[in-house]
Amino acid sequence: MDKKTNRAIGVFDSGIGGLTVVRALMERLPFENIIYFGDTARVPYGIKSVETINRYALQITEFLIQKDVKLLIVACNTMAAVAYEAIRNLSPVPVLEVIEASAKSAACDSRSKSIGVIGTPATINSNAYARAIHLLDNDARIFSQACPLFVPLVEEGWFDHPATRLIADDYLKPVLAEQIDTLVLGCTHYPLLKPMLQEIVGKEVKLIDSAEAMAGITADLIAKENLSNSSGKLPDYQFCVTDVPYRFQTIGEKFLGRTLSSVEMVRL
Ligand code: DGL
Repeated sequence: MDKKTNRAIGVFDSGIGGLTVVRALMERLPFENIIYFGDTARVPYGIKSVETINRYALQITEFLIQKDVKLLIVACNTMAAVAYEAIRNLSPVPVLEVIEASAKSAACDSRSKSIGVIGTPATINSNAYARAIHLLDNDARIFSQACPLFVPLVEEGWFDHPATRLIADDYLKPVLAEQIDTLVLGCTHYPLLKPMLQEIVGKEVKLIDSAEAMAGITADLIAKENLSNSSGKLPDYQFCVTDVPYRFQTIGEKFLGRTLSSVEMVRL
């Protein structure tokens, strides 16, 4: 068996969106092995019931634990919002999730204390962001907006399509009317739309990218727990998906700017 610290970090998402977290991890922790799990056969999760999201999240957790990961990252706001407790109870290794990371950045960065949050319907309905931000700053005013069409548009690779822009304009109008100075991209798919979203909200609104925030808290935990990979070898990246990998591989390679040589279709 591998030395504990040389084992991979397990990262999971409902589909391709968690690659935003993988990219941030590759930049921040270039010597860490990563196993990524994207449930491409069942995405989107954000419009499903809490029971279903919990069941799927636990199946993925079991799968990654079998792979002997040293750390689990819930790179999906939807699963973090509704299934974090259950995942943590099942996991023998530390579990990090995106919501706390982004809430910290938002509470820290907002000057006006008017913070917008966009996410999937499940994330927004859970109120998890408002709770997490209020724990850090009770005076913050949170304006939330569910954006159910963003995930299928991203999974389709329509990052800069006129239809996506039209829909984004419409979703963001009510939030922007509240004079926010910070907007949390509360779904791991949304950073793929970042250039377009920044144009729509204007330069004066800071976008909080959960992927960058996540890489930051992962680096902190690895340092604190002495979990750094000390093998001195180039890192190994494995990708597991639940549907035929062609589309994941094509969009993933474009997004990560590297060849994804190890993409495997798995059954849960
Ligand atoms: N990527 C997930 C998130 O961060 C949601 C996508 C989905 O609806 O499956 O919320």
